[in-house]
Amino acid sequence: MRSIRSFAKARSRLSVKHKKIINQENDFLFSANSKSAFEKILQSSENKVLEIGFGEGDSLFEMAIDNPEINFFGIEVYETGVARTCLKIEESGIKNLKLYLGDAVDLMLNKDIETKFDLLLFLFPDPWHKRKHNKRRLLSSDNLKKFRSYLSKKGLIFFRTDWQEYADSVKKICNDQEVEFQEIEKFPLLKGLTHTKYQRKGIKAGRTISTFLFK
Ligand SMILES: C[S@@+](CC[C@H](N)C(=O)[O-])C[C@H]1O[C@@H](n2cnc3c(N)ncnc32)[C@H](O)[C@@H]1O
Repeated sequence: MRSIRSFAKARSRLSVKHKKIINQENDFLFSANSKSAFEKILQSSENKVLEIGFGEGDSLFEMAIDNPEINFFGIEVYETGVARTCLKIEESGIKNLKLYLGDAVDLMLNKDIETKFDLLLFLFPDPWHKRKHNKRRLLSSDNLKKFRSYLSKKGLIFFRTDWQEYADSVKKICNDQEVEFQEIEKFPLLKGLTHTKYQRKGIKAGRTISTFLFK
């Protein structure tokens, strides 16, 4: 049975440049066709940070540039965002950022990957604000439980949203699961995180940004 999608399929067409980078062979982009290669890289890497739904990749790319000792990974279904991030990886020549073009739910929740992360980031995941669509939220109670099972001993989850009702719902799920909240100030990587496109949108619209860090 097909699981409920946490994203709406984008209708935009890829430019020639974007199509080329997505289809050419390289060592930084994986997809459903190279799923097992991506899983192998995850399993053989230490010191791992994963961003799920990285959009245009603003924060992910900056973190990878600033922290060459950390292995960064990103999962995203939005092809244009993946292509833009691939171009940045190619131009900069960085080796510590790998991307997966595909559904994080299929990859990580509908099955198990034998790997642990030190940090999982969810930056402005789609809020699905109509109540009837709430079940499409990436951070439901069951999903959060499963994502937490991917954390290493010192592993943390970082969640940020500009949608108050989503923030309230995640806070309630966190309290029900008795997570341990952490102070962001103690983690330099997160304190100076580059604003993402959706963060800029939220600020421009005057919405409050809520952030939770927990294990
Ligand atoms: C509202 S956008 C936020 C993008 C970016 N994090 C930002 O803050 O600008 C949510 C992103 O999550 C992606 N997404 C949603 N569900 C996903 C899933 N199951 N697997 C991978 N990406 C997903 C969407 O394609 C979209 O790009």
